[in-house]
Amino acid sequence: MITHVPLPDLAGKHVIVTGANTGIGKVTAIALARAGARVWLACRSRERTQAVLDEIGANAEFLPLDLASLASVREAAAAFLALDAPLHLLVNNAGLAGQRGQTRDGFELAFGVNHLGHFLFTILLLERLKASAPARIINVASRSHYQARRGIDWERLRGRTRTLTGLEEYAVSKLANVLFTRELARRLHGAGVTVCSLHPGVIASEIWRGVPWPLRQLMLGFMKTPEEGARTGLWCATAPEIAERSGGYFDGCRERRPSRFALDVALAGELWRRSEAWAGLAPAG
Ligand SMILES: NC(=O)c1ccc[n+]([C@@H]2O[C@H](COP(=O)([O-])OP(=O)(O)OC[C@H]3O[C@@H](n4cnc5c(N)ncnc54)[C@H](OP(=O)(O)O)[C@@H]3O)[C@@H](O)[C@H]2O)c1
Repeated sequence: MITHVPLPDLAGKHVIVTGANTGIGKVTAIALARAGARVWLACRSRERTQAVLDEIGANAEFLPLDLASLASVREAAAAFLALDAPLHLLVNNAGLAGQRGQTRDGFELAFGVNHLGHFLFTILLLERLKASAPARIINVASRSHYQARRGIDWERLRGRTRTLTGLEEYAVSKLANVLFTRELARRLHGAGVTVCSLHPGVIASEIWRGVPWPLRQLMLGFMKTPEEGARTGLWCATAPEIAERSGGYFDGCRERRPSRFALDVALAGELWRRSEAWAGLAPAG
């Protein structure tokens, strides 16, 4: 496995990677563990994670997490906090695209899993991250956030996915990742916790599982490997210069300008307030 990102010695560092059983998350978790970090693989199936746990060995732990259930998110955060271990790096990587449905709590599936579940997980772990500073939070977003050309239609975040492909909803969920990153960075100013969002590249992973097989085979041939997909995230997680660029959006190991909606401070504030209320952290208003 070659990610071509020279990692520093991470011995003594504690890391959580969501969706680490496959794809970009798996490569990320293995690379961080090889550099010496103790890595919690936050995934919804131990069975599907076992091969990665075995590959990493003593530096890996399993943390049950289903981002489509806010109750599961609370349980996962509580289980980690109960360990009294520091947390130096949280990689919010798990995600789905092109699937239709709703979460257990009645949110549109992509928004619920890709944004709201990670929002709650991060907020519940925030004090531990601050206490472990310098720390980092990496939100794996996507270039698709540019496709959310009408911003966020709040009504459509409640209930089932409305479009046939689910790709409009995916774009909105990834816009939410970038907005959350910017607002969180603003709120964490001076706390020693750096936050980034990023596009990993167009990667041949299981995220395309919903695309019919002959077309999927054709598409996968043009895509990069999960090893290449882990590069920008690993760089954001470890490069010293990133500490000065909290809130940034990265693509190809470079900072890029995100979409005009992603730069909308009022939209970021509105998303934060609604996410807090929807995740049960603040009274709905
Ligand atoms: N691949 C690309 O071209 C591409 C492009 C831009 C951005 N991204 C982003 O990169 C990230 C990683 O994607 P990938 O390409 O590595 O996809 P992947 O191979 O499909 O992996 C996605 C991971 O997310 C997990 N996941 C999905 N739903 C979950 C839930 N409800 N609770 C907990 N975990 C859940 C999956 O677990 P299961 O195995 O249990 O389903 C899996 O571990 C995603 O955020 C994606 O949006 C990918």
